[in-house]
Formats: sequence, structure tokens, C-alpha cells
Amino acid sequence: MTETKTFKPTGALRGRLTAPPDKSITQRALLIGAINDGVVTIRNALWSGDTEATATMVTELGVRVERDSADGSVTRVYGVGRRGLRSPARPLDARNSATGMRLLAGILAGQDGTFTLDGDESLRARPMDRIVAPLCAMGVCIEARQGRYAPLTICGGQPKPIVYELPVASAQVKSCLLLAGLHAKGTTTVIEPLPTRDHTERMLAAAGVTVERDGNRISLTGPAQPHLTEVNVPGDPSSAAFLATAAALVRGSDLSLADVGLNPTRLGFYQVLRRMGGLVDWTVEKDDGGEPRGTIRVRASRLTGVTVGPEEVPSLIDELPLVALLGAFAEGETRVAGAGELRVKESDRLAATRALLRGIGADIDLTPDGFVVRGRDGLCGGVVRSRGDHRLALLGAVAGLASRTGVVVEGFEAANVSFPTFSEALREALSA
Ligand code: S3P
Repeated sequence: MTETKTFKPTGALRGRLTAPPDKSITQRALLIGAINDGVVTIRNALWSGDTEATATMVTELGVRVERDSADGSVTRVYGVGRRGLRSPARPLDARNSATGMRLLAGILAGQDGTFTLDGDESLRARPMDRIVAPLCAMGVCIEARQGRYAPLTICGGQPKPIVYELPVASAQVKSCLLLAGLHAKGTTTVIEPLPTRDHTERMLAAAGVTVERDGNRISLTGPAQPHLTEVNVPGDPSSAAFLATAAALVRGSDLSLADVGLNPTRLGFYQVLRRMGGLVDWTVEKDDGGEPRGTIRVRASRLTGVTVGPEEVPSLIDELPLVALLGAFAEGETRVAGAGELRVKESDRLAATRALLRGIGADIDLTPDGFVVRGRDGLCGGVVRSRGDHRLALLGAVAGLASRTGVVVEGFEAANVSFPTFSEALREALSA
């Protein structure tokens, strides 16, 4: 059902909040948990559209996933071992989740049986050839619609190790191949053009699998059985970025986001915000399962336009629409280059960000691989559409808080994919 929600200009955001749990880490805990040799306890798992889709797929593959009824923050995944998944009677539905589909494809490459992976209209339009080609090179029998799109059919077996240079910087593709590499006899090496989020490597290392990084080469030697006991999921720095942006833009705000993941591969947005003159600090307070976590504090301030180069893009790939929004409030020009990947996200996020922000008064143009925003005195407001993309729904909401007249977001239900508790979090920050 379509939900239309209005976000009016607000007073300051203040106090101390916890961001929702990390989507990427929850997805990996469910998927690696499925092939674990025994039960994995996940504390603070994210329950949202994407992770529910993955939990359902894993359940259909014969894995018990139990949400503790007494303690809602505890989930148990009863892993069936590296090759223990069974073929389900019907296609698996990753719904909107490319992470779910691409990572699971790597795991299925080493199972006995035939598996079909499908998704919603948005996921069916996203490129899967980026995993099909290297999995084929590993000797996996995998077919895609028109060679490129979901549904995918995988006949699992015994993948062969490869050395593979990623044509695009993608943590999903890297993770798919490392997970397939768990089943291969020998060393699988993935070479990244730029560093991308490394949660898979950290979780596999915590599970006792030796994962080696040598510059931009990541290797693991199979066959290897993960032995994971517990995953404690930190807050999601990408979801926290929406609240951080609101705090950076709404006068008088001083917001602390507690217990957020501070993995350096995820912090590009906060670095860019700081470069724009944003008052943002973060402190690592602990390390849990190889993932640093701590508090991010953001205070409102005047901002200046900056340039974000291709080498930074993977570290803030999901936050780039927020950089465009910040740019609309900053003095001067904000430019982003090397962000062509945004065209193949849940929507064409370059075109969609431009349309959304233009519709509410921003001066933004696209370049061949990014955008340029000329800062003005803020945004007026208006009506925007999420296009079924969670990050656009949330972008519209934050833009509304900082606008002059408010923003009506049509299709706000898309936010449930990653941040189902956004409205509650906002209420809390406004009442502190
Ligand atoms: C993700 C990796 C990124 C990111 C996505 C989550 C992950 O995608 O955009 O939201 O969990 O590995 P790519 O790896 O395709 O860039």
C-alpha cells in the first residue's frame, strides 16, 4: 500500500539516539549463519524489508531462523554447515535486496541441487552479469535472464578457485566470490579497484576463516567451514547519515548517534560532511567481532561546497544523495564524480536524486558520472516520489525537515527496506 507522509520544517534535533542496526552486517550474519556449523546468536539484528527477505530465503533452504520471543533483540540462526542447504520447491524471492541475491548466489554455488533466485521489479532490472561472469569462470553453472538479469538459476557443485579483478568496485560482487571461494579447493583472490566495505572479510575472519588482504587483493583458501558463535550488530552508519544530515542542516541541532558502526570503509559521508564545514565527530568506543563502533555527534553549522572524487565514492555510495542535499544548502558548488554505479541501484539514483531535489527547488545538474549542485539559500519544499527506493524516501523526508514549507513524500513505505523506525527516531530527536 502506498503511504504518503509529510515532513514539515522542524525545530532542532537534539539528544542521544541509536540508529537502526546495520543492514549489511545483518544480511551477512543471516547468510554466513545459514552455512555455519551450529547455532549463531545475532544480537540487535535489523528487521526490515531486505533482511526479512533474506531470512525467508534462508528458511526455505532448510535453516531455522528464530526471533527470541522473550528478548526481541536476539535472533538465532541454526546453521546447517557449509554444504547443508537443500533445494526449495519454489524460487527464492530476494524481493528488493541485491545484497541478499548476490551474496546468496555465492553460497549456493557450492550446494547440491538447483536453485532459482528472483526479486521484485527493481531487483529484476539490476545487473547480475557482474556475478554471473565470475561465477561461470569458477565453473559454476548459472543462467540469467538475457544473460544479465534475475531470475538466476544456479546448479550448485564444486566451484574452482579464481583470481578475479573486479571491473567495478562492489562489495556485493567481492562478497559473492569470497563466499563461493569457501567451497573451492585452493585460493580464491578478488582484486578491488578501490576499497569497498569489508564486512564479509571481517565476519569470516571472526568465524575462523583465514582471509588475507595484500593491498587491493583479498584472498581466502577453501574449502573452509565458518565457525561463528555470535554477531553483535552495530547501528548502521548509512541510516544514521539521514539523521546526521537533518542535524547538520536544522539550526540549533546537536545530535549524538550512539553505538553506530565505525568501520572505516563506511565513513566517507562523515568525512565529506566535515570537509564541507560540518561539525561532526566520531569516537570508537569498542570493537565487536572485528567491527569498530562508537558515537557520532553532529551539530548544525554553515556549509561550503566540496568536490567528491571517484576514489571516495565506494565509502559513501549509499549516502551520495545526501551529499546532493547538503550541497543545496552549502555556499558554492558541490561536485561528485565517478558515481556511475548510482544508475544501477534500487532506482537510477542519479536521475532520481536530480528529479527529487529539483522538484523542491534545488539547482542540480547531472554530469556523465555524477552531479553538480549549486548551493542556494535552502530549499522551498513540495511533493516528491520515492520511486520505491528506500534511500529516496528518506532523502525526501530529511529535505522536508530542512525546507521552508515541508515535503510530501509519496511512497514513503519504501523506507521500511532499511529504516523502518525512521519516524520514531525523528520524534525522539525532536522531543529531547
Ligand atoms: C552493500 C554494498 C553496496 C551498497 C549496498 C549494500 C553490501 O552495493 O550500495 O547498499 O551490503 O555489500 P555494491 O557492492 O553493489 O556497491
